Amino acid sequence: MILNCKLDGSTEVYGIFGYPVKHSKSPTFQTLFFQKTNINGIYVPFEVKPENLELAVKSLRALNIKGVNITIPHKEEVVKYVNDVSKEVMYIGASNTLKNIDGFIKAFNTDAFGFIKGLKQLEPNLAGKKVLVLGAGGASRAVIYGLINEKVEKIYIANRTPKRAEKIKKDFEKLHRFIDEVVEIIAFHQIENILEKVEIIVNTTSVGLKEEDKPLFNYENIKPEHIVVDIIYKKTPLLQTAEKKGCKWQDGLPMLIYQGMKSFEIWTGKWPNVNYEDVENIFKNS
Ligand code: ATR
Repeated sequence: MILNCKLDGSTEVYGIFGYPVKHSKSPTFQTLFFQKTNINGIYVPFEVKPENLELAVKSLRALNIKGVNITIPHKEEVVKYVNDVSKEVMYIGASNTLKNIDGFIKAFNTDAFGFIKGLKQLEPNLAGKKVLVLGAGGASRAVIYGLINEKVEKIYIANRTPKRAEKIKKDFEKLHRFIDEVVEIIAFHQIENILEKVEIIVNTTSVGLKEEDKPLFNYENIKPEHIVVDIIYKKTPLLQTAEKKGCKWQDGLPMLIYQGMKSFEIWTGKWPNVNYEDVENIFKNS
């Protein structure tokens, strides 16, 4: 992509903290957002080792960096070093976006927003739906937070380590008065029975990233009526089967793009002036 940046003494600096960070696509599309929205800003990758995270957050104040995204492995740890957290961060326990407000650092989480906005491309009306969520890690917490706020009727969580799913349910007690009715933790062997009850299946685990990963359940039991989302950004075996069955399906790209758009809005007060399809094409062609 040819960038047409005009950098000068007033250019505001934004970026991403990660380790590793080389694979990150955020600098490409965030820089595009700044250009297309006519904001004098630039977005750069910062490779921050875990032992330097606290110092890196302090440096936002020292260097007057206006905002950063936070990625692996810092999303949970970073919360310790900020001045304030949003409601989302309080529940999810992780942040992907910091904003520097005159030296006061506030942590946000735009993953739940990104996930829901992406899912709504496939199903605009989520209220009353029943959803199977695979996994109970950090990403799962954002997905479940988003789904509860959309007033889905039921969320079945299946995780290799059931304790982590129990912890989510406990932590989300204050988010929903009837959490016991909305969230049900199931074992992997129960998935086959649950499939006929749910309209939406979401994989938040890393299973499917590697070719040799053992499937989480027998994907052949997926029905064409199911909506299937994998938050990994590739066509995993789960998604390949969903496509073969004729399901509506989506990988992690919409979530990634929309979480980035929301971060941009938090920093600048403006929604990026781009077509979603143009941003998606940048990824597909890069
Ligand atoms: P993230 O922040 O991306 O969610 P994470 O917190 O490490 O990352 O969570 C990874 C998720 O993938 C967890 O639900 C994990 O299950 P455990 O809680 O039992 O660890 C799940 N996961 C990873 N590898 C898995 C595997 N081989 N089989 C089943 N689940 C797996």
